[in-house]
Amino acid sequence: MRPVTVFSRQTPAGESVLLRQLLVTARADELTTPMPEGWSAFGSGTMALAAALFFAASRHQPGKSVILPAYSCPDIVAAALAVGLEPAFADLVVDQTGMNLAALRSPLNAGSSIAVLVDLFGTRHEMPVHGETAATSRVTLVHDRAQSLAGPGQEVDSAADLVVVSRGRGKPATLLGGGATWARQADEFSAFAAARFPVGNWSAASTALRAALYNLATQPLAFGAVAQLPFLHIGETKLRTLPAITRLPQSWLVHAARQLRAWRSECAARRARTLAMAELIPANNFRIPSDALQTAASEGLNRLPVMCSDTEQARWLISRGTSLGISPMYGKTLPEFMGMSATDAALAFPVAYRFSRTLVTLPTHARCGPRTRQSLQELLRDAQ
Ligand SMILES: Cc1ncc(COP(=O)(O)O)c(C=O)c1O
Repeated sequence: MRPVTVFSRQTPAGESVLLRQLLVTARADELTTPMPEGWSAFGSGTMALAAALFFAASRHQPGKSVILPAYSCPDIVAAALAVGLEPAFADLVVDQTGMNLAALRSPLNAGSSIAVLVDLFGTRHEMPVHGETAATSRVTLVHDRAQSLAGPGQEVDSAADLVVVSRGRGKPATLLGGGATWARQADEFSAFAAARFPVGNWSAASTALRAALYNLATQPLAFGAVAQLPFLHIGETKLRTLPAITRLPQSWLVHAARQLRAWRSECAARRARTLAMAELIPANNFRIPSDALQTAASEGLNRLPVMCSDTEQARWLISRGTSLGISPMYGKTLPEFMGMSATDAALAFPVAYRFSRTLVTLPTHARCGPRTRQSLQELLRDAQ
């Protein structure tokens, strides 16, 4: 596995860590029962994805390519390269956040036996029916649900072969770090994961301590002020090296399951906040991608994606709205992160290119209250 340089961390605003779930010690039976069917814990979501891709590649011929969406979190590129897979990018669907599934059957991607579908901002990705993909295109599907409310302790609810989640900063039900992979073929994957990766340290007590500080730092006032500090470069993309894959102890999975269960009870409130944010969007000048709008109405979103009418409008909003939690997310397409010129990216991946240049995302977390919403509404009105 080669170490890989990668990019980006996003704005730290997000949900609080629920401390109570961390402070209850895991019972012996919680630690000894095999953790919810097939989940393995890793040091981060990136590592969990890298492990999933490694596993998928070992089923096929290793060292081939993997189909990735042309716009997504750059961490997915890191995971692919770290396990020796070359990214083959596929464009998004017009007016949606997800990758065009036609890419799975395209002769251009005939050398790829794995594809990663990402639930961007928590938007549920369209899935081919299970079995259909493997039978018709011989592609192993990896469903990256890092930005979704999915994980150990919940129904997997995906037709993919492998599912990846993250509990890093800014993710729903965050534990400030860690990730997990679920495999449909649970026995095979657990054995593989146990054999290959060293187990890192994790303690609920030290996570709780860090979480208390984090919860304090992400208060709206503190965040607004912190986001303005120029030397923090918040929202900026940075180079980052993916360390070796490590696993986390079983106790992490127990706490992750508890955190998610407690967080799920907040689902109705999250949906209400997402829809309240969606109502602020003047329909004549902005568009919410249709798949995101659908998930917003059913379970709410991690952030609300909004497409501006042009790049200037998006830039204007971002330059004035950072302290209110407006973020451009990744700002460019993944092929551009890998060195492709903007002109070539615009030609090869026109939908993803336009998406990357006109997208802004609005916060939907619990601390984004009526006052912030009102300021955002005024800003959106001024941007027209
Ligand atoms: C879609 C997606 N996959 C994977 C990751 C990596 O997760 P982590 O930050 O836990 O390494 C992220 C992180 O933002 C992500 O958004």
